[in-house]
Amino acid sequence: MIDFGNFYREIATGRLSHWLDVLPAQLSEWKKEHLHGKFKSWEKVLENLPAITPTTLDLKHSVTATREPELTSGEYRCVYNILREFMPWRKGPFSLYGVNIDTEWRSDWKWERVLPHISPLKDRYVLDVGCGSGYHMWRMLGEGAEFVVGIDPTQLFLCQFEAVRTLLGNDQRAHLLPVGIEQLPQLKAFDTVFSMGVLYHRRSPLDHLYQLKNQLVSDGELVLESLVIDGDEFQCLIPGDRYAQMRNVYFIPSAKMLKVMLEKCGFVDVRIVDQAITSLDEQRSTEWMTTESLVDFLDPNDQSKTIEGYPAPLRAILTARKP
Ligand SMILES: C[S@@+](CC[C@H](N)C(=O)[O-])C[C@H]1O[C@@H](n2cnc3c(N)ncnc32)[C@H](O)[C@@H]1O
Repeated sequence: MIDFGNFYREIATGRLSHWLDVLPAQLSEWKKEHLHGKFKSWEKVLENLPAITPTTLDLKHSVTATREPELTSGEYRCVYNILREFMPWRKGPFSLYGVNIDTEWRSDWKWERVLPHISPLKDRYVLDVGCGSGYHMWRMLGEGAEFVVGIDPTQLFLCQFEAVRTLLGNDQRAHLLPVGIEQLPQLKAFDTVFSMGVLYHRRSPLDHLYQLKNQLVSDGELVLESLVIDGDEFQCLIPGDRYAQMRNVYFIPSAKMLKVMLEKCGFVDVRIVDQAITSLDEQRSTEWMTTESLVDFLDPNDQSKTIEGYPAPLRAILTARKP
């Protein structure tokens, strides 16, 4: 059973202890009222994962665990079949004892674009808002972060994270909580806060930026990654019903407008550090995510446009400091 007792114990005495004023009540209400119809059966599947301790664990260059001696073919089959139960796998890739989860997204490419521009994560407390399967959280540990907390309300991603955690030797330096950013109190406790791929899903983007700021210590760093449009600081896109088939996209600013928004919210040293068009190699269907992907969301006659006629996905990374 997924329970958050270890997390509560980990934070009981440190800088996150005041989170305990609200979190246990929120998570027990979540367990009572908001469980996904398949959650209990996912939990049962998780219980069948074999306890494997990796001989080598690489979180710096990838998320790869190996063991000597290698898994028996029975153990391999068991791990493979269990991980298949948690499809679709969107964020990764993971290489776990020879089981290579080729996810829809090459999240490692995003990490390569982010990493050169951020303050070193060594010894930091890190919050990853909208962490998905938790892929980047493991990479943050690979950079020496002391403690990484991810939040994401999607329950399948919690199960994927717990499966990976179990297979990485039950690492307790990273925890995923199934809550939304709007449920967090003002923790003011993290040295670095990441919000990657979340802002355009929020109905109120300025509130999102304030919520992120409220989680940072003073002098802490925000790493913000978002869909953007090409344009000056006066331009943004509010799509109609759908953007690239997604219904939950509310607000896509230009990178320059995003910079102004961050400054408006009181961040300083705001920098636009990267912009990249999402390629068809970075987001695509795979054996582990077999439904439609980016190629199906673009105009077949003009891949610079989505099928709705909007500019195709362009993403920016900004860094900023809370004074
Ligand atoms: C596009 S994905 C980004 C995943 C990952 N951060 C990345 O950059 O690859 C957006 C994620 O935000 C999560 N999300 C949606 N609403 C959220 C909220 N209110 N608070 C935190 N996360 C949220 C979704 O479940 C989803 O996993």
